[in-house]
Amino acid sequence: MGSPGLQRARAKMVDAGVDEVAIETFAHYYRLLEHGETGMIPESSIEPVDMQALSDVEVDDEVAAEAIRHTAVIKLNGGLGTSMGMDRAKSLLCVRRGLSFLDIIARQVLHLRAEYDAPIPLIFMNSFRTSADTMAALGRYTDLPVDGLPLEFLQNKEPKLLEKDLSPAAYPKDPDLEWCPPGHGDVYTALRGTGLLDQLIEQGFRYVFVSNSDNLGAVPDARVAGWFAGSGAPFAIEAVRRTASDRKGGHFARRKQDGRIVLRETAQTPPADVAALADLERHRFCSTNNLWFDLVAMKEALDVRQGILGLPLIRNVKSLDPADPKTPAVIQIETAMGAAVEVFEGSQLIEVGRDRFVPVKTTNDLLVLRSDVYDIGSDFVLDQVSGALPFVDLDTDFYKLVGEFDKRFPEGAPSMKGASSLKVEGDWTFGKGVRVVGDVELEATRAERVAPDTVLSGTADA
Ligand code: UTP
Repeated sequence: MGSPGLQRARAKMVDAGVDEVAIETFAHYYRLLEHGETGMIPESSIEPVDMQALSDVEVDDEVAAEAIRHTAVIKLNGGLGTSMGMDRAKSLLCVRRGLSFLDIIARQVLHLRAEYDAPIPLIFMNSFRTSADTMAALGRYTDLPVDGLPLEFLQNKEPKLLEKDLSPAAYPKDPDLEWCPPGHGDVYTALRGTGLLDQLIEQGFRYVFVSNSDNLGAVPDARVAGWFAGSGAPFAIEAVRRTASDRKGGHFARRKQDGRIVLRETAQTPPADVAALADLERHRFCSTNNLWFDLVAMKEALDVRQGILGLPLIRNVKSLDPADPKTPAVIQIETAMGAAVEVFEGSQLIEVGRDRFVPVKTTNDLLVLRSDVYDIGSDFVLDQVSGALPFVDLDTDFYKLVGEFDKRFPEGAPSMKGASSLKVEGDWTFGKGVRVVGDVELEATRAERVAPDTVLSGTADA
C-alpha cells in the first residue's frame, strides 16, 4: 500500500474517479520520489549522438502522401502557461488578425486534409483546466471532428504534494488548485486509458504525430511522415541544433550502457557536469518536442509494462496557489513525453530546420510571433520573412505577464522584420505603426510612450 502520504493521495484519486492505471502510474513515481530518486544522468554515462538531417533525406512523394494519410495529429494542450501568468490554455491567445494558436492549428490541418484528400484527425490532449475553453473556441470549426473520433481526450490529474511531508495538499478556498496535470509524459497513459489508442488502430491509423500547441512551426509535414514510415522505427523525435540560447537547456545523447538515445534535461545533470551540458560542440542537438510514433509499437510497449512506461521522474516544486507565493511549497510529480525515446530500442532522431520549432514560452517569443517577422499564408504555415530572428528582451517587471504585456502593445506588435534585437528596460507603451530596425535599446525611469509611426533604430534613452 505504501506510506500514509501515498495512501491518502491514492484515496483522493479514487474518490475523484481517476483512471486505475493512472493511479498506479502516480504511485510508481511517488515511491521513486520517496526514495530520493533524482534521475541524474552523469556525463560519464553518455556520449554525443549524431543524426541525419531531413534536408539530406530522399522521400518519395507517394510514400509521404501515404504516410500522412495514415497519421493522426495530437496537440498537447494541457499546460497553463503559468510562466506567462496565465491560468488558461496558452493556445487561446491571439496571434494575429483575431486568430489564436488554436485557429491556426485547426486551419493548418484543414488545409492539409484538402491537399491530401484524407480525413487527417486533429485531437487535442486537454487537462481538466483547459478542456472547456478549448472546446468552446474550436466550436466554430464544425468540420474539424473526424467520424468516430473525439476532438479531445483528457489527461489525468494527480494531487499536488506538500513538500514537507509528501501528503496531498488541501486548499478549501479553491479545491481545483489541489490538483495538477502530471506533465506531458501522461500522453501515453491517457491515450491508453481513454481507449483512444485502440480506437485509432481500429480505424486504420498507423502513426501519431504529437507536438506542443504553443509551437506553430509543428505542422504535420508529409515529408517527415514519409521519412518516419520509411525508417520503420517505432518512435522518433525531431531535433534542432542547439544555439547559444539553448545552452542551459536539455539535449540528446546516447547512453553508453545499452546504446539507447536519451534526453538529458538540465535538472538531470549533476553539478559537476554543467560545463559539459553547455558544450554546444559536444552535445549539438535539442528536442523540438515534435514526436512520431507507431501506434502498434506504442500499444505493445505499454501493454507489456501494464501501462507504465517508466519515464524519468521530474520533481517540479511550485507554490500551491501559483498566484500566491505565500501558500505552501508543493511538489508536482511530472514526466516529459520526449523521455520515452529511451523506451524503444530502435528510436530515431532527425534534424529539422528551426522553422519547425517556434515555441512561445515567454512574451518575448509572443512579440516576435505577433510581429511581421512571419507571414502566414493560405496554408497557415509560418513563413519567416526576415533573415535571422530578432533577439527580444523585454523588462520582466512590465512585460512578463501577458496582461501587462498586452497593455503596452495596445495596437499590436511593432514591425520587427528589419530588427536584429530589441531590448526594453522600463515601462514603454508602443503606439501604432512603430518599426524596429537593427539593434534597438530603450531605457526609461518612468512610464514612456513610443509615438505612432516612429522608426526606432539605434539606441533611444529617456
Ligand atoms: P510546457 O512544459 O512548456 O509548459 O508545455 P507550458 O504550459 O507551456 O508552460 P508553464 O510551464 O506552465 O509556464 C509544453 C506543451 O505541453 C503541454 C502544454 O500545453 C504545451 O503545449 N502540456 C504540458 C500538457 O499538455 N500537459 C501537461 O501536463 C504539461
